[in-house]
Amino acid sequence: MKTRVVKAFGDPEKDREVMQEAAGIIKNGGLVAIPTETVYGLAGDALNPGSAGKIYRTKGRPSDNPLIVHIADISAMDRIAHDIPEEAYRLAGRFWPGPLTMVLKKTDAVPYETTGGLDTVAVRYPVNMIAREFIQASGGYIAAPSANLSGKPSCTRASHCLEDLDGKIEMIIDGGEVGIGLESTIVDFTESIPCILRQGYINEEMLRSVLKDLSRDPPQSIHPKAPGMKYRHYAPKGKLSIVKGSPERVTAKINNAAADHGQKGETCAVIAAHENISGYRGLRIMDAGSLRNEDEIAGRLFAILRELDKAGIEYIYSEDFDTPRLGAAIMDRMNRAAGFNVINTDEDQEEKT
Ligand code: TXA
Ligand code: MG
Repeated sequence: MKTRVVKAFGDPEKDREVMQEAAGIIKNGGLVAIPTETVYGLAGDALNPGSAGKIYRTKGRPSDNPLIVHIADISAMDRIAHDIPEEAYRLAGRFWPGPLTMVLKKTDAVPYETTGGLDTVAVRYPVNMIAREFIQASGGYIAAPSANLSGKPSCTRASHCLEDLDGKIEMIIDGGEVGIGLESTIVDFTESIPCILRQGYINEEMLRSVLKDLSRDPPQSIHPKAPGMKYRHYAPKGKLSIVKGSPERVTAKINNAAADHGQKGETCAVIAAHENISGYRGLRIMDAGSLRNEDEIAGRLFAILRELDKAGIEYIYSEDFDTPRLGAAIMDRMNRAAGFNVINTDEDQEEKT
């Protein structure tokens, strides 16, 4: 299959032809990669069981890992979810359209293929104009996981989608680099207390400004609440370690490691805050952005992991980006990418959490 990459602008006039073509693909059960404000999505018709199957096969994703249904209008929620709690409407009123996904009880309109066999459905109304035009044109209900192959870092540019999906899908809509670079915050509304299933740009404090009760720990049950979170994620090919501690200790530890790897002829890189990069020697340095600009760090992360893969780096060390607003979401992704492999220089021993 030939994969076409087509530019869109977020302007209904200019994008009309592209959207008509993309909608045709979706209505025929095909797949299109689309930009959203968080990461690129691999889109198919959420109400067509065959499309869900195609998404799982294309991504190499286990079919028990449910897909988010994207809508382009709050009222569209009523067809796919029932018994929606008042608080969910309030949260949507505050943060939709935007990088927030809500898990609700599903109606029969949503096939079990889309929800990975669950009786619940994850719903998101993105703010990105290209995504909204596309969803509208394609019938209003779009299943879209992140467009990366399963296990790889999410795509923040159309070129990342092409790396992963060339020859596997009909079309990639190029909307440029995404704004946020981390996947949406997920809140579950199907238990007695709303619960954060995935950290994201809408952080806990923002959620608490609307929700009186909010839990951080999903209730234990036989089925993991966000099945996707049990798999290794965002992982580069090289061995990634997160190095924690005071900046001096972290720099010293990583420089020592770099020297060891260098002696063995192994390639090695560090992902560091802009403020710290001048302290590193003898390894490839990836500037994650300034600690004073968390959005920059969030936005660069996945592209950096992909770049290190392309360069075939064998050992990767990352500083801890425990910044006030987005630190929880950034470090959630980094810890998963590292398989929770953390070196704590204050204890100076490797800890596996
Ligand atoms: O920002 C985003 O959310 C991006 C863009 C494309 O919208 N999408 C995205 O999808 O990150 P994906 O499939 O990569 O991650 C969705 C996560 C998975 O961990 C999945 O298990 C969880 O959401 N999820 C989906 N439906 C669920 C449900 N009914 N109950 C619990 N978790 C669910
Ligand atoms: Mg994903």
